[in-house]
Amino acid sequence: RPGWDLKGKVSDMEVKVQNYQSKIKLVNLENDHLKDSITKAQKHKGNIRVFCRVRPLLTGNQSDVLHIQLPAHDNKALTLAKTEESHTGRTADTQKSYNFSFDRVFGPRATQREVFEEISLLVQSALDGYNVCCFAYGQTGSGKTFTMEGGDLEDLWGVIPRAVQQIFKSAKALQEQGWQYTFTASFVEIYNETLRDLLYTGKPNKRPEHEIRKVSNNEITVTNLTYQKVNNEDEVHNLIMLANQNRSTARTGMNDHSSRSHSVFQLDIEGQNSDRDTKCKSVLCLVDLAGSERVQKSQSQGERFKEMTAINSSLTNLGIVIATLASKESFIPYRNSKLTYLLQNCLGGNSKTLMFVNIAPEEESFSESLNSLRFASKVNDCVIGTASANRK
Ligand SMILES: Nc1ncnc2c1ncn2[C@@H]1O[C@H](COP(=O)(O)OP(=O)(O)OP(=O)(O)O)[C@@H](O)[C@H]1O
Ligand SMILES: [Mg+2]
Repeated sequence: RPGWDLKGKVSDMEVKVQNYQSKIKLVNLENDHLKDSITKAQKHKGNIRVFCRVRPLLTGNQSDVLHIQLPAHDNKALTLAKTEESHTGRTADTQKSYNFSFDRVFGPRATQREVFEEISLLVQSALDGYNVCCFAYGQTGSGKTFTMEGGDLEDLWGVIPRAVQQIFKSAKALQEQGWQYTFTASFVEIYNETLRDLLYTGKPNKRPEHEIRKVSNNEITVTNLTYQKVNNEDEVHNLIMLANQNRSTARTGMNDHSSRSHSVFQLDIEGQNSDRDTKCKSVLCLVDLAGSERVQKSQSQGERFKEMTAINSSLTNLGIVIATLASKESFIPYRNSKLTYLLQNCLGGNSKTLMFVNIAPEEESFSESLNSLRFASKVNDCVIGTASANRK
């Protein structure tokens, strides 16, 4: 009878569906295994990386930069060299050189695209549930903002717009595997240990105050801050433009304000895969730090001195936090500065960190460059635990 036939067919199909489902499970498992082994392969390096980038000379000939040497066949090394004149005149001049090695060194000719290629895997892992933090460190004018934000033309785009572009592209591709993501953006500036919302659109005289709060073990939030849901790249670009406007209004009131504040762009990512009953949650933090130049007491007084000490102490504390994390101490002094308190989820053993050390090529920047490279080497020597994804 036809009824029996149909029943038979349906149960045949059910068997087939079951077969396919178990095959899908198997493939997914294999996928996870593959991801695990990639992670394991990356693990032995630890989860903090340091890239050095030398800015080109803005005027004049690149070959005039004699004190920075980049070996032709080693893209991980850099030497800073200086000739010291003999004080007495009786001995010969001595050549002093300082060698550094990092995970990658980009010379003055490196393009924004080349730089981003090296960190795109890191950005990708934010979608897999890893907290990721990338920050740019260096003296004023060394190229931090150029590296993180870059110019308007797509070729000149820096890390932030490229990361955003990649995240939305990949999220779309992952939809086919059942992943649904929601993204929330925030953009905050830390100036003199005070937080300022860069996405604020209200009246200037009604700006609220902000406090950093720890909501749960894995979650930091800032009170009264704009957390904006974003659905596509364009929406994020608009927010970045708004942030830039907000930064420049502050700049008119205070000369060079942006060099003396840290700016933190944060994208909160939540993913859900109903086919596989998994969830993940992570943050991608992209930070343009304040200029790292040392305080010269003779030149900076009053407000300026206060600014410089605030900057220096928060940068020093960043170094201390990274070092204590590396030495696996149980107490990490995150709360000693707003910057580390805000970033604490992205700096712990559970996350991946990348630091750019930006170097100015002018000879008069020699000692600042040396300081920056020394700070970066200390960071580079730190192996902070192993990252793991926040998956459920
Ligand atoms: N790799 C590069 N190629 C071309 N121009 C660059 C590069 N890096 C920086 N510049 C230019 O050098 C100048 C200083 O760079 P930038 O503003 O990024 O410095 P900064 O480190 O952010 O300084 P500050 O601490 O004062 O904010 C800018 O005009 C920038 O466009
Ligand atoms: Mg800048």
